[in-house]
Amino acid sequence: MSMHFHILTLFPDMVENGLHTSILGRATEKGLLSIEAVNIRDYAFNKHQSVDDYPYGGGAGMLMQAEPVYLAYQAVENKIRERKLREDGQEGRTRVVYLSPQGATFSQTMAEELAREEDLMLLCGHYEGIDERVLEEIVTDYVSIGDYVLTGGELPAMVMVDTISRLVPGVLHNDVSAEFDSFQDNLLEYPQYSRPEIWHEKRVPEVLLSGHHANIEKWRREQSLLRTAKARPDLLEKAELSQKEIRWLQEKGLLPTME
Ligand code: ADE
Repeated sequence: MSMHFHILTLFPDMVENGLHTSILGRATEKGLLSIEAVNIRDYAFNKHQSVDDYPYGGGAGMLMQAEPVYLAYQAVENKIRERKLREDGQEGRTRVVYLSPQGATFSQTMAEELAREEDLMLLCGHYEGIDERVLEEIVTDYVSIGDYVLTGGELPAMVMVDTISRLVPGVLHNDVSAEFDSFQDNLLEYPQYSRPEIWHEKRVPEVLLSGHHANIEKWRREQSLLRTAKARPDLLEKAELSQKEIRWLQEKGLLPTME
């Protein structure tokens, strides 16, 4: 099964260029993904092709108008429906994500959930945002990528597409590697080393050269625990640790002891 992203934006080139290189470019060529940028300006209904106007009630900046966004949405929705009819796919409403600092914070868990969708629409706002009425009609999910403000939703949409795409089966060379990465189990990744064995007088940790797989796994797990405890103690609370691991971290003063 492949996954189809549809990005509604005023800057299609930015999105297309950013998402058709490297791993995602290859996955698109292989037919595992499709990433389509739809130019909202193509759906402007006046002769100047303008898509923005002043906000009622005054205030700074311009707002994206409802109608061009709605027409762009409908065009995509129709295209999806036609494809599903052809392919005998599942009917059902396409989820439409609006990128906004006011949304729920994006996370690996949210990415895993969205990766199960066959189609995903991402709506990118610009200027001071989009007329509320069209958001009410088409948006199913409001998502923020973090507590900071960008000039538009394009970079956040690209962050989401990248994160979700690598969870689609076949996109990464190695199907298992997505599972072992940071956050999947609320632990950060262990450090990694490649040739040469000595670089700037720093040696690769001896255990990694030993060929002893059990010891290597144990060392990696410890490194993950240490890194997480030092850099992201908030994550440790959600990680599944054995009693032995909890005691080990407590002895190092990296985890508070229960009274
Ligand atoms: N648009 C502007 N800032 C944003 C953010 N932090 N997340 C999602 N969309 C945005």
